[in-house]
Amino acid sequence: MSRGLYNMGLLHGADYNYEQWLDSPELLDRDLLYMREAGINVLAVGIFSWSILESTEGVYNFEWLDGCFERLHQNGQKIILATPSGSKPAWLSEKYGETCRMAANGVRQPHGGRHNHCRTSVKYREACVRINTKLAERYGTHPALILWHVSNEYNGMPCYCPQCLAVFRDWLKDRYVTLDALNAAWYTTFWSHRFTSWEQIFPADHSIHGLMLDWQRFTSDQTIDFFLAECEPLRRITPGVPITTNFQMPDVGLDFHKFARHVDIISWDNYPEWHRSPDDEPAAVKAGFFHDLCRSYLHKPFLMMESSPGATNWQGVSSKKKKGMHILSSVQAVAHGSDSVQYFQWRQSRGGEEKFHDAVITHLGSNDTGIFREVAETGRLLKKISTIAGTNTESRAAVVYDFQSGWALDNAQLPRNIEKNYQKECIAHYGAFWKAGISCDVISPEYTDFDRYKLIVFPMLYMLREETAKKIRMFVQKGGAAVATFLTGLVNESDLCYLGGTPGNLTCVFGISVEETGTIADWETVTFQMYGQQWKAAHYADHVRLQGAQALSGFAAEKNPAVTACKFGEGTAYYLCARTEQAFTDRFYRELCEKHGIPPCVSWEIPAGVSIQKRGDAIFVMNFNSVETVISPGEIYEDMLRGEPVCGTILLPPYGVCILVKSSSGEKKSEHQSNSK
Ligand code: GLA
Ligand code: ZN
Repeated sequence: MSRGLYNMGLLHGADYNYEQWLDSPELLDRDLLYMREAGINVLAVGIFSWSILESTEGVYNFEWLDGCFERLHQNGQKIILATPSGSKPAWLSEKYGETCRMAANGVRQPHGGRHNHCRTSVKYREACVRINTKLAERYGTHPALILWHVSNEYNGMPCYCPQCLAVFRDWLKDRYVTLDALNAAWYTTFWSHRFTSWEQIFPADHSIHGLMLDWQRFTSDQTIDFFLAECEPLRRITPGVPITTNFQMPDVGLDFHKFARHVDIISWDNYPEWHRSPDDEPAAVKAGFFHDLCRSYLHKPFLMMESSPGATNWQGVSSKKKKGMHILSSVQAVAHGSDSVQYFQWRQSRGGEEKFHDAVITHLGSNDTGIFREVAETGRLLKKISTIAGTNTESRAAVVYDFQSGWALDNAQLPRNIEKNYQKECIAHYGAFWKAGISCDVISPEYTDFDRYKLIVFPMLYMLREETAKKIRMFVQKGGAAVATFLTGLVNESDLCYLGGTPGNLTCVFGISVEETGTIADWETVTFQMYGQQWKAAHYADHVRLQGAQALSGFAAEKNPAVTACKFGEGTAYYLCARTEQAFTDRFYRELCEKHGIPPCVSWEIPAGVSIQKRGDAIFVMNFNSVETVISPGEIYEDMLRGEPVCGTILLPPYGVCILVKSSSGEKKSEHQSNSK
């Protein structure tokens, strides 16, 4: 069986900002002991170390990092080495003003904070390549180095400096070749916006939707280009060391589907808002969605590069995790495909913006804390389930999540502009699969091959590329089940409305044509009848005409269809005309999965608040309820954590987990037993 990355089983680690403690050698010594005690096998170092590594231009100081490498190596830990571009030193901003980002009003951002560089600046790229070259030359062959962590949490914040604008205009020339083509794509006849020279184009006019969409695409592309420039010396000098960069939650202005194609290993930073309400299920569904998105980028296991061992200090309210929640949240990442549980950070900073962000070792400086004990317990648990590393999940259902369509939708002025909630809607559809214990990928309409799925959901896919429309048609033609919703297929790739009926280019597949995107005011009650019950709709309700589809349900007041189904080729295309209440969405997909032969991971009943995820042979049972919950598998399983067979019922404590494998084959049994130390 695969041992995952580097044959190390599951990774357990943290960001280690060693350089913050150079004047406290006794603490650094204690770190090594505590790390062993917590079962830490990997540390991410050097993430924001530039001003120490290169104190002034060309003056390098690597001795401290040499020491860090040696000490961790001797202590049995591996190292993920960061490049430091996430935060540049003051001397660099001072000497090369062009490395600072420029606002739309032409004012340079003052030095400070982090993640603030111009991604086009030739000087910044040169400085990054220089320091990355030094790092690669010095540490590339160190036996502790397992992975490059390039920069930190790239974002899509714009820069309007002359270098960025010049490259943007070149990007536009590549895309459109002529100004006539650009004017046509951006529909610049509207409000007399026609451009007669490339220099007139300035990307701050939100009334030209095509322009703003292209500007976001460019900013995302330019970030990837910057990343590739950072990678060049690493690929050249250390071809055997894989590369990652830590992605964030998917709303920072980058097209991560596109970015993902350039990294060797996906990693991301996971900060769910636990205990924000008495019911943790919504936060758990959301975290599941983001994890599954990460697994689906490359259809491979990923790393959870960061999570908080306790509370954060940047959320409105970050509650202390209730007993069990730390392990549950960590196990959830593994259940969805992470080969690691890593923290921000190992030792809590004494000063600076994050001094009150929890860490494995807090200001108390002790291993005798609740946080440390839960982390150490997580370390022991990860060892017991280390055979899971490298295993994957095969899903037959998927929800499409499209960054670019989301940007276009944000910019659109619709009959209803409040609570468009694109991401929330995608998570609502995904949530139905989560609750039913059905594995679900979160995929790109552009890069993902649809053939691996039986059912694909396209929630609010406002911008529908003509290529995607073709893919959907083929998918249904060949027997797939597709679900689209209100606000799907309104505009093409240029943000131009489809003429002749929506969903664009797919009216014959869905057998409907939307006559009007209707809105529902907050005071209105709109209902429809289905499965012998009445359900509520909110916010949006399309008025559709049937053109071959069958209405499965109609709105009570107006009699027009609420849910439709259309046979097309070998498959079926469903259309949900309105934003439906969650209970309906859950029921709808349960029925659809049954009809289209997509079984849950387990045959037994899944109580509310319990998530079941299958990865490889392992079945993860996770109780997100604050109360004890009983599950009744009714079959014999091996409990990987306790190393013993279980049958009949299992009592899950509040926020408890158990990880089961089928007990039928003696071979499997002994394999797991031998690994559960
Ligand atoms: C992000 C960053 C870290 C740290 C954490 C705090 O994920 O990458 O450097 O700021 O947030 O939660
Ligand atoms: Zn710039």
